[in-house]
Amino acid sequence: PHWADTLVNMRKVTHQVVHEPLAGTAFLPCVFTLRPSPTHEPPRIKWTKIWGQRGTDGVQQEQTVLVAKDNVIKVKKAFQGRVTLPGYPDNRYNATLALNGLRSSDSGMYRCEVVVGINDEEDTVPLVVSGVVFHYRAPHDRYALSFLDAQRVCLENSAVIATPTQLQATFDDGYDNCDAGWLSDQTVRYPIQLPRPGCYGDREDSPGVRNYGSRAPEELFDVYCYAEQLKGEVFHASVPEKLSLAQAFTHCQSLGAQLATAGQLYLAWQAGLDRCDPGWLADGSVRYPINQPRRNCGGDEPGVRTVYQNPNRTGFPDTTSLFDTSRSNFCLRTFVLYFKC
Ligand SMILES: *[C@@H]1O[C@H](CO)[C@@H](O)[C@H](O)[C@H]1NC(C)=O
Ligand SMILES: *[C@@H]1O[C@H](CO)[C@@H](O)[C@H](O)[C@H]1NC(C)=O
Repeated sequence: PHWADTLVNMRKVTHQVVHEPLAGTAFLPCVFTLRPSPTHEPPRIKWTKIWGQRGTDGVQQEQTVLVAKDNVIKVKKAFQGRVTLPGYPDNRYNATLALNGLRSSDSGMYRCEVVVGINDEEDTVPLVVSGVVFHYRAPHDRYALSFLDAQRVCLENSAVIATPTQLQATFDDGYDNCDAGWLSDQTVRYPIQLPRPGCYGDREDSPGVRNYGSRAPEELFDVYCYAEQLKGEVFHASVPEKLSLAQAFTHCQSLGAQLATAGQLYLAWQAGLDRCDPGWLADGSVRYPINQPRRNCGGDEPGVRTVYQNPNRTGFPDTTSLFDTSRSNFCLRTFVLYFKC
């Protein structure tokens, strides 16, 4: 008989992409049916994360997430406290993986392997974690936003005020920013990877999100905003002459688009936009997105750079003056849907 070839039969999930927001929980399905093994051995389950490019030039990397056999589940250190097999205690044939506290870096392919004796089967599930947290400072000065202002400026930039778990998920991916900002629960916090003078907060020696606790709403800070989804396409446009903000506004309109917001630019940056040329945005700020850091493009880390007027990193550029401002802007083209009747 050919039972050995068909012992494990996974219910393949046709590679439907699982989309979940930052800090949320993803369920990666893996359910299999198997015929009784002659040895009555329980199946061995292994989940592996795969990322990077496949092929000759690309390097594909793998990392084990967990292995399970009968009542022993071993979770690898990098995933400890964040993964479970919620269906497994009741059903050894359900290897569905739950991954919580989602980070952007969790995006990738997840492979589920099932081994019974000498037979094995595998299936892969792609995961995309959406959303980006960004620091926002008022146009005129540092620490100039009340709690109400903080919520408003996020909304004006296609975002909402970030939650503590969203800031934590971003910190877990390496985010470092020494500016205290409002969060949705009316606390004020900032993420520190490398403790340094002026950025210690309540701890001198360890990395972590610093927390000033709950603050009175009229106190003034910066803010952390969260943008989830880009509705449209951000593109860079430039002209030979320098542009004022008003001219930038008109320029986007002449291209059938509108000036992009800061939140939209951060989402476009997360999706890979790289442009070493500062451009106007709808809020009157001048910024540029960098994915491949290079010497003349503002530092060693990827990120969205903001051009400030003052050396202390405050003040958006003068919106009317053409002097020393930009020849470029970032526009948003929203998709037009045509319906066939
Ligand atoms: C497997 O477990 C998941 C998570 O608990 C559950 O949602 C799903 O319905 C289960 N599937 C089957 C076929 O038992
Ligand atoms: C930064 O510099 C500007 C101009 O010199 C000044 O008005 C502002 O108060 C300074 N802000 C901070 C937070 O030091």
